[in-house]
Amino acid sequence: MRQWWRDAVIYQVYLRSFADSTGDGIGDLGGLRRKLRHLVDLGVDGLWLNPCYPSPQHDHGYDVADYRDIEPAYGNLDEHARLLDEAHDAGLRVLMDLVPNHCSTDHPWFQAALKAAPGSPERERFLFREGNGDLPPNSWKSSFGGPAWTRVPDGQWYLNLFDSSQADFNWRNPEVAEMFDDVVRFWFDRGIDGFRIDVPDSMIKQKDFRDHDGSRRVNPYTHGQPELHDIYRRWRRIAESYDQTRELSFVGEIWTGDMDHLAASLTDDELHQAFYFDLLLQPWDATDVRRSLENANGVLRAGRSLAWVLNNHDVWRTPSRYGGGELGLRRAHAAALLMLALPGTAYVYQGEELGLPEVVDLPDQARQDPRWIRSGGTDLGRDGCRVPLPWTPDPPTFGFSTAKSSWLPQPDWFGAYAAAGNPTLRIYRAALAARRTVFPAGGEIAFLETGRDDVLAFRRGNAVSVTVFGGDAYELPAEWGSVVAASAEVTGAVPAATTVWLSAA
Ligand code: NOJ
Repeated sequence: MRQWWRDAVIYQVYLRSFADSTGDGIGDLGGLRRKLRHLVDLGVDGLWLNPCYPSPQHDHGYDVADYRDIEPAYGNLDEHARLLDEAHDAGLRVLMDLVPNHCSTDHPWFQAALKAAPGSPERERFLFREGNGDLPPNSWKSSFGGPAWTRVPDGQWYLNLFDSSQADFNWRNPEVAEMFDDVVRFWFDRGIDGFRIDVPDSMIKQKDFRDHDGSRRVNPYTHGQPELHDIYRRWRRIAESYDQTRELSFVGEIWTGDMDHLAASLTDDELHQAFYFDLLLQPWDATDVRRSLENANGVLRAGRSLAWVLNNHDVWRTPSRYGGGELGLRRAHAAALLMLALPGTAYVYQGEELGLPEVVDLPDQARQDPRWIRSGGTDLGRDGCRVPLPWTPDPPTFGFSTAKSSWLPQPDWFGAYAAAGNPTLRIYRAALAARRTVFPAGGEIAFLETGRDDVLAFRRGNAVSVTVFGGDAYELPAEWGSVVAASAEVTGAVPAATTVWLSAA
């Protein structure tokens, strides 16, 4: 079986900011349906929809109030069915976002827990604990800043590893696992092709709620607990109970530096794939990038499948991360081709194909990310990579909406990145088309000797990818083949901040 998910290119749709069809300044399913052609022309194999379930939107959908419906501002289940049909007709797979670690405090289960007494079965679905006097039960911190505990009127505290509007489930309670079995089946029955899973690594917490001294970046008591494997196996069994030709798949959002742990979650009876985030943490430096890829190679060698990613709705966009301006954009193009040459699936985040930089100067009053709010404005948060897309050069919303403004304000210069005639888009389209024929599926990354610290080259099959990070132009060895794709114009030697693909076939 081909296992499409092993070497696909998936386009990440942050629906709220993709395209608005109703004129309220908020993206929706109708807007996505109208623009599906953009994805087809780009040449991707599928799309991943960020959470689009009913939600009070404190964390823009990662606070789910109902797992089996569509947020009214985005459409409804019929509209979702139409999207699925049209995407499938266009040859695109559709992944939904499964958010099992926590739900919105508006979710009926949490509302029932609030009304019920300490120790009740309703509270047992979440992680309610007594505090230490007036202090929270332990020292765990929220990823968004501040304590991971919120107090309720009767004095108990509930755990929230993210915003206090997102209550962590108690995954040691079988009712929780059963509820998610149903949710997974609900969407598989409706015809989706798989799930991206939100922070799966945190679903199980260490039993005694031991204090975390804060000395390590990742709290070991809220990540990577052994019982997680039971949950992965349970979901895999559900996926495999469907018609095998559908090849339903799960990709886990697992932020970890522990490659053995990552590999252990990707066995044949657990998750199909996980994101490899280490690459997006690297600066524009050949040595750092090589080290990161070498680190991933062990997982690939063991036959596990990785999903590569440089941009998503949680991180600064690549052109800004790599220094900003023309040079930052040029490096982002080079990084994109490097990523697209790697063995595995690649994720492209909406706007990445337009070369959008981070919007760093959003007005304070416009910012909405709970990270901004909970940090008292010391952490700018993630709004800058979530600004609605520019489709045309025309203000006020650049083709995003017929409204006068969009839910997050677009800067005046956004029109310069509009889709029509966009140079980054041309590079992405050409690279995606070439990728299919140039590189074989799977395998590992075989590094080639370049004689330089600032030039990174690797072979896959008959093809070679070469990235010149900095320094002088690099003369390509003739035996590597001829250039079949490039992130910038190359006439002879490869200039700095450029990736080329060569094929000897
Ligand atoms: C990871 C998601 O990508 C992020 O956007 C969200 O805030 C957290 N998980 C919490 O759900």
